[in-house]
Amino acid sequence: MYRFRQTRAVSTMRANVSIPVVLVHPDGREQAISGRPGQSLMKAAVGAGVDGIAADCGGTLTCATCHVFVGADWLPRLPAVQADEDAMLDMTADPRRPGSRLSCQIVLQPALAGLRVVLPATQY
Ligand code: FES
Repeated sequence: MYRFRQTRAVSTMRANVSIPVVLVHPDGREQAISGRPGQSLMKAAVGAGVDGIAADCGGTLTCATCHVFVGADWLPRLPAVQADEDAMLDMTADPRRPGSRLSCQIVLQPALAGLRVVLPATQY
């Protein structure tokens, strides 16, 4: 019984964890949002009504309209780009750069608290 309560308490604590992220719009405006651990950055941004993340495919890795630029200081903290994401990054409307990622493939976790990404000028 005690173990169940302890596990439930830990789960509740994790559910309440909020991971702050800053999105920098093309005009320099900064928008602070937050997401839950395990949630994609794309889902957190769409849920917050961020203008600039279209995410037409809903995260199925078939649209490349959730493109973001991740700074060199944050890139090492993200998992490596997988083949499917790599292929889609060649189809972004705003040309791919070294820090290009698809936000539907960035899974938020406490180690990413404070992540800053720049939004492209366009997703189309
Ligand atoms: S939401 Fe479509 S590729 Fe990310």
